[in-house]
Amino acid sequence: MIGVLGSAGRAHARLAALGSYVPPGVLTNADLERQVDTTDEWIVSRTGIRERHIAGPDQATSDLAILAAKNILSTAGVDPNEIDVLIVPTCTPDYLFPSVSAITASAIGAHRAAAFDIQAACSGFIYGLAQAVALVESGLAQKVLVVGAEVFSRVTNPQDRGTCILFGDAAAGALIVADEDHAASSGFVGFELGADGSMGDQLLIPVGGTRHPAAAGFHPDDAYLQMNGREVFKFATRVMEDSVLRLLDRLAMTIDEVDLLIPHQANQRIIDHAIGRLGIDPARVFGNLERYGNTSAASIPLALAEARDAGVLRPGMLVMMVGFGAGLTWAACLVRYEPT
Ligand code: COA
Repeated sequence: MIGVLGSAGRAHARLAALGSYVPPGVLTNADLERQVDTTDEWIVSRTGIRERHIAGPDQATSDLAILAAKNILSTAGVDPNEIDVLIVPTCTPDYLFPSVSAITASAIGAHRAAAFDIQAACSGFIYGLAQAVALVESGLAQKVLVVGAEVFSRVTNPQDRGTCILFGDAAAGALIVADEDHAASSGFVGFELGADGSMGDQLLIPVGGTRHPAAAGFHPDDAYLQMNGREVFKFATRVMEDSVLRLLDRLAMTIDEVDLLIPHQANQRIIDHAIGRLGIDPARVFGNLERYGNTSAASIPLALAEARDAGVLRPGMLVMMVGFGAGLTWAACLVRYEPT
């Protein structure tokens, strides 16, 4: 990518296309009943999840990202060589390095693209959108692909009933384009992003980084995700509401002006809590948690793409997305959906 600041004049970023890839393998609650001491009734009543998709043994995160990226580009009718930047929000990369984005860019033929990953866990897609919008509206880039991709099944302990029931694998994302002819207001209205690292140990994978390198040896449990579910639950219910309200307050808007709310798909009780506190009509909230579980950085774009396919997300709608995740992080974004 080569970009010159301000060269695009008054460029505005537009959410031009959505797409996804979900691996075909399915892990149901009945399967989990045979794996750990749990029941379908417990999982559904505590989380709302009935099944999740699981990557095949030969599929790493980039394999999912590649297929999602191709899906987005074909939906938009855009050639991979037109992509200036490819951003992959993920916290389950193929390797510490190289990045999933670099592998994905090569594989899809995005040979002009700069490529980097974002590590903001389940908030990553919205963080990635903020980067894409900044690149486009500064004039540095004209077309940016943001593909959230995760293979959580590889980092979740199959014997830990507190976590193995929650997560699934998927990739999904969006194409953000520069729109020169756009009216004065941008398709993207605003972002609210945050992080509280003091709570980082509530949701982490201890081994594999520089604190506890894998080469130094480790207990197998420490190579898996570890979570204090109750603390993350409390954090999530607080930030989902606060983040949306802070953004609306800054924009001098109310929740009644939002056409569609797409919350991070982590737990139906967290989502229901946010719906109640925000006072938004549940008919204006879309989710698909029941069939995918928590797909982390892929969860919000996967829900967006399904909402579009279901005719729930329609051109011109004002959409609020909100999420939270490891870090701990949170993020909200308000955007008018204007597909190509
Ligand atoms: N099946 C049956 N029982 C289970 C279970 C399972 N899969 N998982 C936990 N339990 C048990 C616990 O051992 C505990 O038993 P005890 O009372 O005998 O000690 C009991 O259920 C209650 O555990 P608790 O952790 O308080 O349950 P909870 O209502 O908080 O639900 C989560 C657990 C994980 C579903 C919930 O805390 C949650 O969703 N947290 C947020 C996690 C999240 O979203 N993480 C991703 C962030 S992006």
